[in-house]
Amino acid sequence: MLKLEQINKIFNEATLDEKIALDQINLELKSGDFVTVIGSNGAGKSTLMNMISGALTPDFGNVFIDEENVTKLPEFKRSQFIGRVFQDPMAGTAPNMTIEENLAMAYSRNKKRGLRIGVDKKRREFFRESLGSLHLNLENRLNAKVGLLSGGERQALSLLMATFTKPSILLLDEHTAALDPSRAELITNLTKQLVEKDQLTTLMVTHNMQQALDLGNRLIMMDKGQIILEVDSDKKHELTIDKLMAEFQRIRGEKMTDDKALLSI
Ligand SMILES: Nc1ncnc2c1ncn2[C@@H]1O[C@H](COP(=O)(O)OP(=O)(O)OP(=O)(O)O)[C@@H](O)[C@H]1O
Ligand SMILES: [Mg+2]
Repeated sequence: MLKLEQINKIFNEATLDEKIALDQINLELKSGDFVTVIGSNGAGKSTLMNMISGALTPDFGNVFIDEENVTKLPEFKRSQFIGRVFQDPMAGTAPNMTIEENLAMAYSRNKKRGLRIGVDKKRREFFRESLGSLHLNLENRLNAKVGLLSGGERQALSLLMATFTKPSILLLDEHTAALDPSRAELITNLTKQLVEKDQLTTLMVTHNMQQALDLGNRLIMMDKGQIILEVDSDKKHELTIDKLMAEFQRIRGEKMTDDKALLSI
């Protein structure tokens, strides 16, 4: 479903600011895999997401989606089969457009024949039904401007827009981090529900270790541009935060205690 082969990315090469953001990354996801990604600030997690979405191209290496080499395929062409939600609730939706218009835009994104403007009765019913699954009463506010929604409502809408076209890959980059705890929990539960419904192949970055343990069937830990730990489905349910921290210490030979973000639970 997704294969990353020997991916390297260096920013500002051969300058004082040189930064190896990704260092020989190999990763393979089977259809329906849900991988949580943890790692300290600057570990390369978002850069990894950007490689998959096509926002960045690797210096070396290849990206395959559904067996197709998409390394050179620009982001707007990959968006047909990639859904993405960012940390900022403002990033995934257009504030001056209505809920219905936002949904229509997302819906047409994965259609090969360009934008289909206008929403017929059948489509509107589908939108209403999909919104209903969020249990936020948004199905009765189709004509409300998205800018009027709360951060949590907006993030729920972004999540729906990223998933209702059943993308080949779903990318979630700390998509609950900017929300208060109860809203974050709501979005976490919705994520579980929407991913399970269509068995979406998913990569989710989080700084919340408990969330990384609770969600998904696989886990990877990144550090300094490398994947330093991979836990597969047969072992993931045995993981605890203590075990993860001990693993990190064993691999890197340093204590994680100064990394407050990664320790948040
Ligand atoms: N466009 C860029 N230009 C230069 N350096 C960059 C760029 N994007 C990322 N970097 C650097 O690459 C490294 C990896 O960044 P990345 O954003 O992938 O980290 P991250 O794991 O997502 O961190 P965080 O948890 O803080 O979001 C960092 O050192 C960052 O400063
Ligand atoms: Mg990041």
